[in-house]
Amino acid sequence: MSAAPAARVPGPTPRAGGDPLIRLFHVSKSYAAGQFALRDVSVEIKKGELVFLTGPSGAGKTTLLRMIYLAERPTRGTVSLFDQDVAQLPRDALANLRRKIGIVFQDFRLVDHLSAFDNVALPLRVAGVDEVRVKAHVTELLEWVGLADHLEAKPATLSGGQKQRMAIARAVIAGPSLLLADEPTGNVDDAMADRLMRLFEEMNRLGTTLVLATHNEALVARRGHPRLHLDNGRIVVESPLARAVAAS
Ligand SMILES: Nc1ncnc2c1ncn2[C@@H]1O[C@H](COP(=O)(O)OP(=O)(O)O)[C@@H](O)[C@H]1O
Ligand SMILES: [Mg+2]
Repeated sequence: MSAAPAARVPGPTPRAGGDPLIRLFHVSKSYAAGQFALRDVSVEIKKGELVFLTGPSGAGKTTLLRMIYLAERPTRGTVSLFDQDVAQLPRDALANLRRKIGIVFQDFRLVDHLSAFDNVALPLRVAGVDEVRVKAHVTELLEWVGLADHLEAKPATLSGGQKQRMAIARAVIAGPSLLLADEPTGNVDDAMADRLMRLFEEMNRLGTTLVLATHNEALVARRGHPRLHLDNGRIVVESPLARAVAAS
């Protein structure tokens, strides 16, 4: 992670190396004339990083994630993913990019008529994984997120926290190169939030790049990962790059 123009100034804690996986260059996003959800955001997130995206409600966290998962185009500026300017890519190349990205939506977006098991199995089945492996993998992950007793439950019968854990399991099951999660611990208690963070950290250890939006300051403080802080659509880089920004 680095904010232009203060790129590559070493921070006090070790930074993941590697190539930029996400690059936003002077990105602004306006939903309505004269109102900007993002204002001139330039930022790089490198392959192998785990970055918190913080800021108060309305700061632009969800909008920034939507730019990265290509749900919307910026009003101004460019977005590059995996070293490709997404505005230049044909439709099938975009579809290929999207397949590398796992997304935990703030509103979950589960398939209502499918069980927890079938919701989480979906990405594996789409990828053509055989049912023996689907069963083993999905069962193990749903146990890990504490849903072992709800494999057959439909989303409507589960609590907000349970649905959130189902959404996380679905986003991570196929081993995405990039995981984007919008308030992924917003509906669970501290103990479960820390457990889910350990899952994210383990994915990161195995090579996944993660961007986790949260307004949970205590969680960010406990885990000690670098963060990008948004305020009123502008990015302010904080630890471990505070000195880099101050020096720029
Ligand atoms: N689809 C939309 N249409 C109009 N305004 C929007 C839309 N989505 C977000 N906004 C506005 O953009 C700003 C940033 O919102 P958002 O990205 O959802 O922030 P956060 O996720 O940090 O709470 C807010 O002022 C919000 O009202
Ligand atoms: Mg949001």
